[in-house]
Amino acid sequence: STAQKVDSILKLMTLDEKLGQLNLPSAGDITTGQATSSDIAKKIEEGKVGGLFNIKTVAKIRDVQKVAMEKSRLKIPLLFGMDVIHGYETTFPIPLGLSSSWNMPMIEKTARIAAIEASADGINWTFSPMVDISRDARWGRVSEGSGEDAYLGSQIAKAMVNGYQGKDLTQNTTIMACVKHFALYGASEAGRDYNTVDMSRIKMYNDYLPPYKAAIDAGVGSVMAAFNEIDGVPATGNKWLLTDLLRTDWGFDGFVVSDYTGINEMVDHGMGDLQAVSALALNAGVDMDMVGEGLLTTLKKSYEEGKVTMATIDTAVKRMLTAKYQLGLFEDPYKYCDIDRAKTDIFTDDHRAFARKVSAESMVLLKNDNQTLPLKKSGTIALIGPLANNAVNMAGTWSVATKQEKSSPLLEGLKTVVGNKAKILYAKGSNLAKDLEYEKRATMFGKDIPRDGRTDQQMLDEALEIASKSDVIIAALGESAEMSGESSSRTNLDIPQIQKELLKALLKTGKPVILVMFTGRPLTIQEEVETVPAILNVWFPGSEAGLAISDVLFGDVNPSGKLTATFPRNVGQIPIYYNHKNTGRPLNNDEGNFEKFRSNYLDVRNEPLFPFGYGLSYTQFEYSNLKLSANQMAMTGDIEVTVNVKNSGNYDGKEVVQLYIRDLVGSVTRPVKELKGFQKIEMKKGETKTVTFKVTVDNLKFYNYNLDFVAEPGQFEVFVGTNSDTTMKAGFELR
Ligand code: IFM
Repeated sequence: STAQKVDSILKLMTLDEKLGQLNLPSAGDITTGQATSSDIAKKIEEGKVGGLFNIKTVAKIRDVQKVAMEKSRLKIPLLFGMDVIHGYETTFPIPLGLSSSWNMPMIEKTARIAAIEASADGINWTFSPMVDISRDARWGRVSEGSGEDAYLGSQIAKAMVNGYQGKDLTQNTTIMACVKHFALYGASEAGRDYNTVDMSRIKMYNDYLPPYKAAIDAGVGSVMAAFNEIDGVPATGNKWLLTDLLRTDWGFDGFVVSDYTGINEMVDHGMGDLQAVSALALNAGVDMDMVGEGLLTTLKKSYEEGKVTMATIDTAVKRMLTAKYQLGLFEDPYKYCDIDRAKTDIFTDDHRAFARKVSAESMVLLKNDNQTLPLKKSGTIALIGPLANNAVNMAGTWSVATKQEKSSPLLEGLKTVVGNKAKILYAKGSNLAKDLEYEKRATMFGKDIPRDGRTDQQMLDEALEIASKSDVIIAALGESAEMSGESSSRTNLDIPQIQKELLKALLKTGKPVILVMFTGRPLTIQEEVETVPAILNVWFPGSEAGLAISDVLFGDVNPSGKLTATFPRNVGQIPIYYNHKNTGRPLNNDEGNFEKFRSNYLDVRNEPLFPFGYGLSYTQFEYSNLKLSANQMAMTGDIEVTVNVKNSGNYDGKEVVQLYIRDLVGSVTRPVKELKGFQKIEMKKGETKTVTFKVTVDNLKFYNYNLDFVAEPGQFEVFVGTNSDTTMKAGFELR
């Protein structure tokens, strides 16, 4: 058995070799460009490395694996990791965009394709899925997660793990997944990255932990500890989190890796010196040390001083060896080093064609007055904006393996899709931002938007000139790729001022303007919503960006994306999310009018700009005839919910039918609504479908004051509709 094989190797290992298995340096080929440890090859020979990350290409990986297999004493193969977050070279939309497709088979397939490409290039382990729930758009990493909802986030976590790991990890096209960042990283105070997290257990269990648990239940092979603290103890040193909850309660039996220098950072958190924090991490349940080498360099001393036991070290080593067995690396350390696959399986036409579909399906139509969209492929179209002709920003944040310059920019996509049927004129219109320093921060890692040598006025004049010759204007504006993602928190979520000014000038021409908005997070676009007739939120669409955006603009694809994160009216409303509590003083009017001594603001309404689940289509969907199969449900039973949905508009289209539940009375306060089901259906124009959901007792369960997962008898409301704002409802009693 694997356990016996692991034991037999363990018996041969010196303490130094054991600690070597816990060490994960970065080769630095990608992202930073610098190795994190000196003389990695020598360390591998000495058995001081368990895995390596940020190394790209089969040739390089084979060479490194060879050192481990031919020069190290015990010939233990290495793991090769990478941040394969939303595709490999074929890049899909940023995860927040991907989640907006609400299409689980599609999401699973993106992870499958990412695994096929990464494994063809020598990678056997990805630091994905990132499942951190976030209710705070200031936090740059909202772009990397699936939004604000635990139920949807759990379905996506499962789909991603299944996609990466497949049914059989020993195959050479599947790779090990790593769910991150455990836990609660998305709740950092004030949305500032790496900041403190403080949260009640009840909120944690009900709203933040479920997606991690879903990944564990789906069999994820590894877990990455978060940078933040939980209850005053950094996650990386938190025994309650990494052992009691993760292993004892949830039954996780894979390995835990720290985040990048996460162990060392506990020194700055104020938990002691490197020796102390390394022992703390190991004793808490960390098995592998990303970059920091604290485990490698201090555990021997801690063992000699009785601060860690050999049994604890052995447990961590066994987990690392087991993972390598699970991947089949002991049988064939080069199973991912097939130079032919590297030539044929990466960035293929098939993968790119699929990416184009996924990108189009993730876009969210936020506004479309007077059927401004879809556009006709005729006349003259002005394409204006700093993001209109920029390939390297299309894939968005954390797309380290992508060949950025190979992505399709919007200008090229438009030209391809309209062919010679329409004339396309292009002007950049403005720089990304006015402030040079800000622009520098927002265009890192080769994701430049080259600053124009002309003055702002000259750029604007050129834009207005081509606008005047056109029938319609497409304004490609928003964030650059690196304005969201890690360490990209913002306190102002407007489109950068200079671009807002450009947009205003374009609107003044009186021509129809379509805002194609690039963003990694919900932006505060109240002013744009009030003034621009059509807004298509395209996130960062990935390698096939330009083609996919054009598919939607011209109606070759009818948009069907729905927001998975609430869009606030202004930053002051944050944190804002649909599944909030009612409070003791909710507003007494449905219009959202101000009421003194009720829970609201003097200067802005409570409702968001766009609610969770929101997104328009070129067609219309009418909901009717919501019915429950019974008005009572037994503790052991279930209820069927049916609703008729009619495509009453002029286009075929897809709709995400959403089901929400409210538990009216509880032993603890319950949210005003919680997503408990959804179905993405495809409908011809004129077609009516009856959609059926089954509500089970599990859908009604929550963690109570004692953290027991229970359903409590009483009245429930069921809402069905096109977004979380739906008021169509029916009720039943759980007995
Ligand atoms: O996987 C990432 C993580 O999400 C953030 N810190 C660095 C890791 C490795 O690149």
